[in-house]
Amino acid sequence: MYRTHTCGELRITDINTEITLTGWIQTIRKFGSITFIDLRDRYGITQLLFNEKLTQSLDKNPLGREFVLQVKGKVSERSNKNKNISTGDIEILVSEFKVLNSSAIPPFTIQDDTDGGDDLRMKYRFLDLRRNAIKKNIELRYAVSRAARNYLHQNNFIDIETPFLIKSTPEGARDFVVPSRMNAGEFYALPQSPQTFKQLLMVSGYDRYYQIVKCFRDEDLRADRQPEFTQIDCEMAFVEQEDILQMFEGMIKYIFKEVKNFEYASPLERMTWLDALRNYGNDKPDTRFEMKLANLKSPLQTSPDRGGLLSPGFKVFDEAESVLAISVSGCSDYSRKQTDELTEWVKRPQIGMKGLAFIKHNTDGTLKSSFDKFFNEEQLKQFSAFCDSKPGDLILILAGKEERTRKAISELRLYMADRLGFRKPDEFKLLWITDFPLFEYDEENNRWVARHHPFTSPKPEDIEVMINNDPAIENAEKYLEHPYAKIKANAYDMVLNGNEIGGGSIRIYQRELQEKMFAALGMSKEEAQHKFGFLLGAFEYGAPPHGGIAFGFDRLCAILGGSESIRDFIAFPKNNSGRDVMIDAPSTIDEKQLEELRIKLNLK
Ligand code: AMO
Repeated sequence: MYRTHTCGELRITDINTEITLTGWIQTIRKFGSITFIDLRDRYGITQLLFNEKLTQSLDKNPLGREFVLQVKGKVSERSNKNKNISTGDIEILVSEFKVLNSSAIPPFTIQDDTDGGDDLRMKYRFLDLRRNAIKKNIELRYAVSRAARNYLHQNNFIDIETPFLIKSTPEGARDFVVPSRMNAGEFYALPQSPQTFKQLLMVSGYDRYYQIVKCFRDEDLRADRQPEFTQIDCEMAFVEQEDILQMFEGMIKYIFKEVKNFEYASPLERMTWLDALRNYGNDKPDTRFEMKLANLKSPLQTSPDRGGLLSPGFKVFDEAESVLAISVSGCSDYSRKQTDELTEWVKRPQIGMKGLAFIKHNTDGTLKSSFDKFFNEEQLKQFSAFCDSKPGDLILILAGKEERTRKAISELRLYMADRLGFRKPDEFKLLWITDFPLFEYDEENNRWVARHHPFTSPKPEDIEVMINNDPAIENAEKYLEHPYAKIKANAYDMVLNGNEIGGGSIRIYQRELQEKMFAALGMSKEEAQHKFGFLLGAFEYGAPPHGGIAFGFDRLCAILGGSESIRDFIAFPKNNSGRDVMIDAPSTIDEKQLEELRIKLNLK
């Protein structure tokens, strides 16, 4: 037997027990004639005491960090107890030891606060995974998957695998493709999600399906995006939107309870897509704090335009399509340097604004703006009332083209919240966003694209609008006036702390409506048949009404773990260029492999 116990197991009650432990050497400390070693495994750290005789043998054959040891000895009470670790009351009086394997000097310290930078840790990911900080993320990931499986199992879902080598099912990103040796010149695509397969399973009668499954998308990477990521992918038959919202509200609460021992107060807030945009500037608002937008002028605003309020000849506001503001509490005393800093921040290319206007709502109630020349006191008062500002607030105002301004103010809102510590990682705010538009207008190609994916059904009341109207857009400038712009999707997203952690929809299940959808997206009948003939065909054989959702499993884990970067919650992630620097992938392949695949490279 290699070991009788793990390094996280022994307690004061085990004193005088003869034990055998195995593990990795974390630290070696020599004190005169004796040596202390911290031995580490997955479960914890145990202190070993090497007596004088054994210490002398170490002088001849020194041990080093990360050596793999087996030790035999007796559990003894420590005189100098360590309250920070579970085994801190005891140590092992070592009687014999064996080096099971030596180790090269690790390129960084295997400790919570490691000295290794990101690149180095990615290259030696197998060592990084030994660190407590990463290990606890990997354990949390397993806890989330176990909780999700338990919940879904209790609710009659069954886990069914779907293929990885498939035909392209476009979901907005590029496909990763795999050449077929046996079918020269033909390619498989790796699934961006199992979307069409789970729908086919509904046609097959498996009315509650789930899968914790890898998805592959060739898209630009960010902290919350990986080219291969995992979804908790679910589908149900004979359901309406409300059934799905209830079922998965249940799942997320179950996960919170199991993983964080946190009772999430019910029910989840629900917000329409339009309200999210109006109040927060984006469709995945962080609602841990308020700081709602004031729309002084915006095409999205249905209430009367506030343009009049902004009139007195200040071109920046008068000529802008949108003027949006936030009131930030406790910042009215910002210095010139600080407001200049914010101005520089909004001017960065990623934000892309020309400038920042502000009003200080001083604690004594007076108002001071960066555009005093154009506004008298009365007008500033109206402004402040409209922004609902309080003494002590700093009103930040952006003006410009609608979309850019909205995005910028929503980024600025998050930036200010970060500065003020409003985005606490241990506070959780979940919500549903509903009533998305079914279509988005693609200016470049003057056509409609599906906002979610082409299998999403319009709201029942909008089906007629879709059927009875021609999708052609005569006047690109006025696309918002086209009936298609107003069609709402039977779709929903779940948002957690400003991150989209899940999205889904009620699906189209009749061939005619699905064909109409493909046509609306500019697909010819032949193209639709070539790409999705299998699905259209299946819809002719008694497809039940159905719908589903997929959760971004990595994202969910990261947020539950208090981080927004999903990489640390994936055992072997890719870097921002999509590379696995540990195994060095992607890489070139042999000439012979290329020949077999009958592929000629054209690298210019
Ligand atoms: P969607 O494309 O919205 O829906 O994806 C579902 C969830 O997956 C997560 N996600 C990602 N996580 C990490 N890296 C990525 N590159 C990435 N892309 C998406 C997000 C997202 O909310 N088939 C539909 C679901 C359905 O309709 O049932 C789908 O895939 O958290």
